[in-house]
Amino acid sequence: MPRAYALDRFAQEIRRALLEHGEVQEEISLLPPPPEVSGDLGLPCFLLARRLRRSPAAIAVDLAGRLSFPSGSLVGQMVSQGPYLNFTMAPGELARQVLDEVRHWGDSYGGDDVGQGRNCVVDYSSPNVARRMHIGHVRSTIIGHAIINLHQFLGYHTIGDNHLGDWGTQFGKLIYAYRSWGDDQAMAARPIDHLVDLYARFHREAKATPGLEEEGRRWFALLEEGNAEARRLWQWFMDLTIQEFEKTYRRLGVHFDLYRGESFYETMLDAAIEEAVEKGAARRSPGSPAVILDLNEYGLSSTLLRKSDGATLYLTRELATALHRYHEYDPALILYVVGVEQDLHFRQLRKMLELMGYAELAARCIHVSFGTIVKPDGSRFSMREGEVIFLDELLDEAESRARAIVQEKNPDLAGVEKDEIARQVGLGAVVYNDLHQDRRRDVVFDWDTMLSFEGNSAPYIQYAHTRCCSVLEKAGGAPERYDAGLLVEPQEQALVKQLAAFPRAVRQAAQEYGPHVVAGWLYETARDFSRLWRDLSILQAPVGIREARLGLVAALGQGIRNGLWLLGIEAPTKM
Ligand code: ARG
Repeated sequence: MPRAYALDRFAQEIRRALLEHGEVQEEISLLPPPPEVSGDLGLPCFLLARRLRRSPAAIAVDLAGRLSFPSGSLVGQMVSQGPYLNFTMAPGELARQVLDEVRHWGDSYGGDDVGQGRNCVVDYSSPNVARRMHIGHVRSTIIGHAIINLHQFLGYHTIGDNHLGDWGTQFGKLIYAYRSWGDDQAMAARPIDHLVDLYARFHREAKATPGLEEEGRRWFALLEEGNAEARRLWQWFMDLTIQEFEKTYRRLGVHFDLYRGESFYETMLDAAIEEAVEKGAARRSPGSPAVILDLNEYGLSSTLLRKSDGATLYLTRELATALHRYHEYDPALILYVVGVEQDLHFRQLRKMLELMGYAELAARCIHVSFGTIVKPDGSRFSMREGEVIFLDELLDEAESRARAIVQEKNPDLAGVEKDEIARQVGLGAVVYNDLHQDRRRDVVFDWDTMLSFEGNSAPYIQYAHTRCCSVLEKAGGAPERYDAGLLVEPQEQALVKQLAAFPRAVRQAAQEYGPHVVAGWLYETARDFSRLWRDLSILQAPVGIREARLGLVAALGQGIRNGLWLLGIEAPTKM
């Protein structure tokens, strides 16, 4: 059963009353009224008017006289206005119920069990072995982490899988290059840099040396056959590269359940191609090993599942991966957190699955795509030229800026504590900068915005959280009992409604695969809280109100923590 939070119950109460006393039988749609009309939900009476053959306005008046709500109801007022009947929440009751709810659910406030423990595979990060991780992989890692948290929060069993690019002819070239020009010392010091150099050298030399390309192919064939030397080197490249990647993951606080690169599916490729041909999705090319996937009639162009030299492709491995995940996990969702430039690739995958009779699986494969990163002048980063961002550098810079701010705000903190807070704040700033806008939009890679600590930024939100913590500490903790019904000032009500809206923001974020919805909620909450902070006193408030406000502050702290957790951002208690 999905959880019913306060706003859900408010709507349920209205529906129930309409069914019981209003002679309303049809599916009722309740909508938030336009901003100029006061009220939280409105019933448009047009549909009813048709059945009852009366004017919508007359029906609204009639219903307003007839409906009733018990005491303790979330429905406060009911007013007919033209063809609408508008309902307003009872402020005191709302505050009581919402604060109770936050206390009751705690760390899982806003969560749900709509996932019912079903599997949700999240394919994210997925950099290429022996290459540097570029900015797109960093985005995928940050967005993927938030997508995982969201789905876990909603009751799915998530499986985070790092689908490494660890297979293909480039590994044959790399093996050849290492055997020819490899340097163990360079490998030990900076393995990825050295592998990148070796790969580049292979291409340079191949231009002048006929037969080198052939050597690369030969070594890849040996690798595929399981040749011991080829396997050993490939495995070594893998291990060294993954060790490097893991440094980045550790810093970002990201952990994967699986590291199944493309190579994992190697033994399943023939069967996948076979099946695609058998089911009529692909066809063999006469007199050649090539297998063609012609999707022209769907506007998805034509491509290959096997080349004429027998080699398989990225899409072949993608197909085998999807089928394997399907059989192993029967997942409710497979979410591919991959840049928008692979849009065609994933459309081809889905169409191919449909043509193979896996329409249901195809519908569960979702490309959670994200925009490219552009430089401040609007130009793209070039992967070929090895333009990468140095995430470490970025995080170091973010931390040192954060340290300066913490130092200024709170000079008495001990050194270790200051370092830890600076780490949380610096990392938060970088992560939030990526997540607070719609993922589909392009992101301008600009140090200053990435490190922004003003306005709509993680430090601003984290700071609101530390304020909650410090007031509660001064008060000696949140009060056990209080009457939240006293929270009727507009600044208080705004925050109560904001808390009530959190579960919806979470659901919407999951529906859109859009962590930015949670980020937006966090920002508004921090902003509304700073208004309350500015206008009303908490610790000095009269008895009764003081306790209720402390209760509100405790609930806000909880809500902000939950929201930050969803984004993969820590919530320090001091700053
Ligand atoms: N390794 C690929 C790249 O760097 C991304 C893989 C994404 N995942 C997938 N299942 N195709 O472009």
